[in-house]
Formats: sequence, C-alpha cells, structure tokens
Amino acid sequence: MLNYLPKDLPVPKLHQLLLGGIGPRPIALVSTISEEGTLNLTPFSFFNCFGSNPPIVAFSPSRRGKDGSFKNTYLNLMNNKECVVQSVTYSMVNQINLASTEFSAEIDEFVKSGLTPIESDLVKPKRVKESPFQMECIMKEMRSFGEGGASPNIAICEVLKLHIAEDIVKDGVIHPDDIDLVGRMSANYYSRASGNSIFELVQPKFEIGVGYESLPDFIKESHIYSANNLGTFGTSKSIPDDSEVKKFIEVFENKKIENFEASEEAFYRYQRHNDFQRMLKVAIIFVKESHPKAKTYLELTSQCAIENNDTDFAWKVALYAGNPKS
Ligand SMILES: Cc1cc2nc3c(=O)[nH]c(=O)nc-3n(C[C@H](O)[C@H](O)[C@H](O)COP(=O)(O)O)c2cc1C
Repeated sequence: MLNYLPKDLPVPKLHQLLLGGIGPRPIALVSTISEEGTLNLTPFSFFNCFGSNPPIVAFSPSRRGKDGSFKNTYLNLMNNKECVVQSVTYSMVNQINLASTEFSAEIDEFVKSGLTPIESDLVKPKRVKESPFQMECIMKEMRSFGEGGASPNIAICEVLKLHIAEDIVKDGVIHPDDIDLVGRMSANYYSRASGNSIFELVQPKFEIGVGYESLPDFIKESHIYSANNLGTFGTSKSIPDDSEVKKFIEVFENKKIENFEASEEAFYRYQRHNDFQRMLKVAIIFVKESHPKAKTYLELTSQCAIENNDTDFAWKVALYAGNPKS
C-alpha cells in the first residue's frame, strides 16, 4: 500500500488522489444569481443528498486552487442564500463542462453554455430547463475549512421545491436508464450511470442474515464462488437443512425438462444462457457417472442461480455439491 499523511502531500496531488478514490461522484449543476442580477451556472461534484426529513443537499464551491480566491457561486450564495441545484444527465455533459469555465462574475453562464433558463417558483436563481431533476433551495449554512487554494466551503441547503420530468418517474421510482445520470471520477474521467453499468442489490434492512462466518467451509473454500457470491449466501436468513436439500434434489430429478443434452458443451451453453435448471440436470447426471468435475459443475450451477437471484435454488445446489453422493 502507498501510505500518506495529507500534510506531506502537495495539495494538487492530494486532490487528485481523493478524486480517484472517491467516486463516481454525482454532479450538481448549481444556478445562483449575483447582486447585480447576473445568472451563474456551475457544476460541482463535491455534492450529495444527506437526508430527506428535511431534504438537505450540500456541495462545495471550494476556494480557487490557484490563488485561494472565492468562486462566484460562493459569493452569490453568501449574498442571497438562494440556488437551484439540478442533476446532470449524459445529454448535458458537454454544456456543463463549458459552464465550468472560470468566467468572470458579470458573464451570464446560461448564455455561455447554451442551457435554457426558466423561472423558479420560490427563489430568484433560474432553473435549467434541460435537466429533468431540479431543486429550488435555500442555503441554511456555509461551513468553511482553511483559507488556502482548494479549501472547502460546504454549502448546506434545504430543498424547498422539486421539479421532476414526468416521463422519468414510474410508480414513484426514477429508473437509472430513464434519467441517465453522469458521475465524475479522477482526472477527466466520467461515468455514465445507465445501461450495463446498472445492477440491482436488495438491501437486507431489518432481516438479519446468517453472516459469512456461518457458511460451510466447503463453500467458503470453493474456487468457484466469488466474494460477491459468498456475500449473497451470507445475506440469507437461514441455511436449508439436509432433508430440504435431499427432497429438492429428488423432486428435481423427477422434474420433466424438455430438450436438454447431457454433455460438457451443452452445460456451458446453458451457463451462457443463465439456464441453471438445465445446468443442474446435466450436473446431476455427471454426479451419477462419477464425473471428475461433477462438484465443479454443481458449484457453477449454484453460482449461476445466485447471480440470477434464485438464492434458494443456489443454496440447495451448493449444499448438495458439498456431499453429492449422500
Ligand atoms: C464536472 C465538474 C465538477 C466540478 N466540481 C467542483 C467542485 O465540487 N467544487 C469546486 O469548487 N469546483 C468544481 N468544479 C470546477 C468549477 O466548476 C469551476 O471552478 C467553476 O468555474 C466555478 O464557477 P463559479 O466561479 O462561477 O462559481 C467542477 C468542474 C467540473 C467540470
């Protein structure tokens, strides 16, 4: 490991390491207004939501790295405490990048970026029409740390009103593919939070899982299961007992599954199609034939089931793999 005390690193290097290790960060596109009425628009990736009751968001318009001076967003907020915070989608990313230019205070950054200002209902700063998620906010507190270049100023804001595009909300949920957000990472890297990068994981909440330490050693020591697979096993509320496993296998053996072929080639084809039912049919035949890789095939079947959210099936096959001839 590389080990550092922050005080021993030049600030730009420390900054870059923090950006690389903490991400992807959501991006707030913050709209403010100056005393003279100039509209300001700036992206901030030191940003998040910190609770919903009341709804609090915070972002950091830090001091400029080069000279420690205050950014226009900070000055506007200290002047009138109002802002609109909007989420940044993939379709806007080049325009928000343009808005991040260090324009002087009298430049309207809506004009520069080509984004469209629309009236807010409760605050003076304008909303950005192109963003499907807009929050009118009032700043509750500005917390500042340090006075040098890149020193943080954390603007803690309460959301007064939300504006959300109707077509991205289904049954009260915003699906990542519909909003298509982007996140900031290190250097010039961004991530697009939709498509193949999205996956689902149900949070255990109040259901207490058996925990990693309760997994049988032959599961923990298997070369097939990944750390994520073991984590999923550990999240289960209980482990099936021997009689449940025996019954499951007996029932499965008698289950009619059309068109399956008992060969290694077919097994891997079924695996590519996430067809863990046919995989098990083949694996059981291999057990009967004392195939040297029968245990591996059972474990691959269990893994396929767990990765396709059938944890009960996965458990029973995993336990059977521990003692298949019993
Ligand atoms: C995607 C992105 C994220 C950024 N995040 C931050 C941030 O969290 N804090 C910050 O001070 N500057 C951040 N910046 C740089 C500011 O956008 C830039 O300094 C801007 O010119 C400040 O504008 P202002 O003076 O109008 O407030 C970011 C830039 C980009 C492109």
